[in-house]
Amino acid sequence: MKLFNFLLKDVTHKIEYYSRFSPSPMSIKQFLDFGRENACEKTSCMFLRKELAVRLANTMREVTLLPANLLNQPSVKLVQSWYSQSFEELLEYETRSPEDPRTLNDSNVQYFLDRFYTSRISFRMLINQHTLLFGDAACLAQPKHIGSIDPACNVAEVVRDAYETAKMLCEQYYMMAPELNIKENNSKTPQKPIQVVYVPSHLFHMLFELFKNSMRATVELYENSSEGLPPVKALVTLGKEDLSIKISDQGGGVPLRKIDRLFNYMYSTAPTPRLDPTQTTVPLAGFGYGLPISRLYARYFQGDLKLYSVEGVGTDAVIYLKALSSESFERLPVFNKSVWRHYQTGPEADDWSNPSSDPRDASTYKANR
Ligand SMILES: Nc1ncnc2c1ncn2[C@@H]1O[C@H](COP(=O)(O)OP(=O)(O)OP(=O)(O)O)[C@@H](O)[C@H]1O
Ligand SMILES: [Mg+2]
Repeated sequence: MKLFNFLLKDVTHKIEYYSRFSPSPMSIKQFLDFGRENACEKTSCMFLRKELAVRLANTMREVTLLPANLLNQPSVKLVQSWYSQSFEELLEYETRSPEDPRTLNDSNVQYFLDRFYTSRISFRMLINQHTLLFGDAACLAQPKHIGSIDPACNVAEVVRDAYETAKMLCEQYYMMAPELNIKENNSKTPQKPIQVVYVPSHLFHMLFELFKNSMRATVELYENSSEGLPPVKALVTLGKEDLSIKISDQGGGVPLRKIDRLFNYMYSTAPTPRLDPTQTTVPLAGFGYGLPISRLYARYFQGDLKLYSVEGVGTDAVIYLKALSSESFERLPVFNKSVWRHYQTGPEADDWSNPSSDPRDASTYKANR
């Protein structure tokens, strides 16, 4: 027991120690240069040993800021134990060689999940780079790829792949799917296919989610009409700074008031899919994770994902990526005082008039400050 307490104290101490470091964001260019020129397994191990510990510790400290009622949930406890275990396993490598319940509000949960999933994306990125370069499966990796990065990723090809995969799903559900119409606009080298240094699996993930959404909206609007389904359009453009991919549908759109909400975790207008392990097919929609996670992937390398909708007509979703790999640095959550402050403050009082609020509610607003 004594030894256990000692170890526990040691681990807590180590988490505190590592959380004082900020994670070091890597750019795609750095991942690439490392994998290409001076790939050295030992250097990679040394970097991972510290960097994974820093990223884990930052996330683990942030988890403890969640309100007590959430922290006591068995699922949260389970995830915490996985993180602790991973952290302890990492500590082995280190030696082997050289509070009170807080206000729970939706914005806190959204804030937390965005940061939590970003840090997960980043662990996977670092671990994948290492195992694909040096692990047993290194020989199976795509020869032209540097780890998970394709130095010449043909964007339109990924668009088409993601469309075809979403189309298969859509046809399973609705027995129909809209056509795809792709256009490219390369302002740098006109007539040349647009290429980017990027992680194709990330790009595929985002596009697949956008296509599923556009297909569902289109089919649901036109299912019973005599007109054919309007196609989903994809426009791939390359400028000096941005590489943008616009996916446009004519699925009827969403009112402006609701647009921000679509990025909330678990917000979905589709029925909740049943998690049946015997079923092999995946649902077309219903988890409410498609948009928020896709936006995290886009933001992870300094891009973004935005929706522009015209209600009654359709929606344009735009994925923005950095055209230059030297600019696409990882965007990582850091644990510091302002994070702590974020969890302390409740929802802010609105500083614009609210048409639906009763003036008598003003006192409740004050109480919230
Ligand atoms: N192109 C679109 N046109 C109209 N509504 C859309 C469009 N894209 C998203 N939405 C709305 O936003 C909601 C959230 O989308 P999101 O992709 O995050 O979750 P989902 O599609 O419901 O489930 P899943 O996590 O399985 O993708 C959808 O349920 C839908 O109501
Ligand atoms: Mg979706």
